[in-house]
Amino acid sequence: MLVRVGQEVQEVPRRLAVGGADAQRPPTPDHAWARPPSLSDGVVRLEPLEARFGPELAGVVLDPDIVRFTRLPTRPGEGFVEGWLSRYERGWEDGSRAGFAIVADDGNDDGALLGFMALIRIDWDALEAEVGYLLAPAARGRGLAGRALELLSRWALDALGLVRLEAWIDTENGASLRVAERAGYTREGVRRSTHFKAGRRVDMAIYSLLAGELA
Ligand SMILES: CC(C)(COP(=O)(O)OP(=O)(O)OC[C@H]1O[C@@H](n2cnc3c(N)ncnc32)[C@H](O)[C@@H]1OP(=O)(O)O)[C@@H](O)C(=O)NCCC(=O)NCCS
Repeated sequence: MLVRVGQEVQEVPRRLAVGGADAQRPPTPDHAWARPPSLSDGVVRLEPLEARFGPELAGVVLDPDIVRFTRLPTRPGEGFVEGWLSRYERGWEDGSRAGFAIVADDGNDDGALLGFMALIRIDWDALEAEVGYLLAPAARGRGLAGRALELLSRWALDALGLVRLEAWIDTENGASLRVAERAGYTREGVRRSTHFKAGRRVDMAIYSLLAGELA
């Protein structure tokens, strides 16, 4: 479908067009969405997630901390990562989610995947999204998730025009609680005994970042 953006006429996926039939969609055929960006702060770069990251992610999702603290399956079966990545690739078409690979951008960039950073759920009617992230074990301990979360959050609030971002974090996940705080998120409270995934209930701290709160 052809849509006018400023002086330009752009081709955008039909589902992103203003007035489309779907409830969940970006409200405008915005440049920020129609062309997934590569975001960088000179140390880390966020690149739109795509199938080529599959082999690296397949190893990473087995890490015990990722199994414990994320909603990824406890025993990811054959084909899980491919299906997961294809849902994120579809997200760039239907506006339901926005997934990025975290890679190094410090001059020693060998293109290796450091982690995953995403708007795992976007509600375009409410202009809200939930963030999710993880790092490969070898990339931890250097503050990279905080940098990547700040990049994602700035893009989501400034370029996409979302108003509220949320992070749900197990209260026992000390590193992730700090990551959210370092990225400017405010702790709102704790949802006690929240159903997390099969067989697990945990106390979840809810953090949020609102438009205008990033310096
Ligand atoms: C959470 C995660 C992304 C953080 O990675 P990271 O950027 O390497 O985090 P760091 O090791 O640099 O730690 C970040 C901060 O937490 C602190 N921290 C680390 N472990 C901690 C712990 N167990 N308790 C309290 N604070 C801790 C660090 O000192 C650092 O503090 P600072 O910002 O004041 O310097 C990573 O540990 C991970 O991938 N975990 C598994 C998946 C996961 O939990 N995802 C988040 C789901 S909500």
